[in-house]
Amino acid sequence: MAPISIKSVLISESVDPRCRAILEENGIRVTEKQNMKKDELIAEIKDYDGLVVRSATKVTADIINAADNLKIIGRAGTGVDNVDVDAATKKGIIVMNTPSGNTISAAELTCALLMSLSRNVPQAAMSMKQGNWDRKKFMGAELFGKVLGIVGLGRIGKEVASRMQSFGMRTIGYDPITPPEVSASWGVEQMSLEQLWPQCDYITVHTPLMPSTVGLLNDETFAKCKKGVKVVNCARGGIIDEAALVRALESGQCGGAGLDVFVEEPPKERSLINHPNVISCPHLGASTKEAQARCGEDIALQIVDMVQGKKLVGAVSSTQLFTCHLAGDMNLCFHQIKPAFSACWVFILDPGKILYSRCFIIYWTMCHSVCPNAMFSLQPNNYHRSLNDFDQLLSSLRCVNG
Ligand SMILES: NC(=O)c1ccc[n+]([C@@H]2O[C@H](COP(=O)([O-])OP(=O)(O)OC[C@H]3O[C@@H](n4cnc5c(N)ncnc54)[C@H](O)[C@@H]3O)[C@@H](O)[C@H]2O)c1
Repeated sequence: MAPISIKSVLISESVDPRCRAILEENGIRVTEKQNMKKDELIAEIKDYDGLVVRSATKVTADIINAADNLKIIGRAGTGVDNVDVDAATKKGIIVMNTPSGNTISAAELTCALLMSLSRNVPQAAMSMKQGNWDRKKFMGAELFGKVLGIVGLGRIGKEVASRMQSFGMRTIGYDPITPPEVSASWGVEQMSLEQLWPQCDYITVHTPLMPSTVGLLNDETFAKCKKGVKVVNCARGGIIDEAALVRALESGQCGGAGLDVFVEEPPKERSLINHPNVISCPHLGASTKEAQARCGEDIALQIVDMVQGKKLVGAVSSTQLFTCHLAGDMNLCFHQIKPAFSACWVFILDPGKILYSRCFIIYWTMCHSVCPNAMFSLQPNNYHRSLNDFDQLLSSLRCVNG
């Protein structure tokens, strides 16, 4: 990828100090200004080539449109929910996230919620604080020998599987992209969702939020589950339909839920949170010292790589074509039809020959998990294509390989 000149970066939130240190070590001027109001950020952003945020800064279209020099928006975290990726793409600004920095932390919180659900730990702790000694009310059940269904077998799904296997759980799962033989190598048997629902004692979801995953667990799918199934959502609010979950908890079809994420954060509707069989956290999946340090470091290193023209990792914006070089002469190409997450053509190419092509509904950070050592190279001639440009795209791919 051609080097991109980044001389100054604004960090608008509390990001781990390693981020600033790495940028400065690489000759980038860094300014840290927290708690800016929107107008202040609009006035300030004009002077910078780069902006680094976490979750609190809402990088809206009016901020992006005021940013005359901005070339990169980096989010120290997974996902870019707080960035208007469409507006950034229109302005040719690259939006990046750090997809793997908080994998372990999110996986560990998921396991904590699964364990808490099995033994009522939060409810028992609360009861003790109220002066009670109630040993009957909090009778639990072992995880050993139970079936855990993992929907979404990417980075976090995989880490959850290996940890819960150590408790003697049988792990089954579903993922439209991770090949069954790959998940089988880490102990997860894949099957269709229709086969998965009725087998699970526990279900945990680890997909992005996208049209195909909104309401994955709903009235209809809860009805296909074992009575009393317990569910965890440490991914994104809305993958489990919240109203359907309340109904399933009320009827006993769902025996308990562990929730870290909500459709609205913080949630105004409290019926779910107040339900006695729900344990919840205020979106703490990535809230560990280690995850914050990794994300701060990762975003700085990704920006430095960009400046040095090395590679583009964690980019979610722009309708560009990326090629990444696999072993030998084969290339794996991603053509993203729409920003952030949507349809994407994936090609595996031998020089001049397409070995494999398929259109996936895909979340952009997937690119990193499909091919973690990928060297992404930007092909500026391939911007703004759509499915209708497919033929043209194929010719340009041949050029890439020629
Ligand atoms: N609670 C938190 O603070 C926190 C922290 C980190 C990540 N997350 C969220 O966790 C989720 C998973 O993150 P990850 O890093 O493992 O992502 P990932 O991209 O590595 O994995 C996501 C997986 O979901 C699969 N998938 C896509 N559509 C699917 C569908 N319809 N059915 C089943 N699987 C499908 C993909 O193929 C992929 O393997 C994301 O939503 C992410 O935003 C939350």
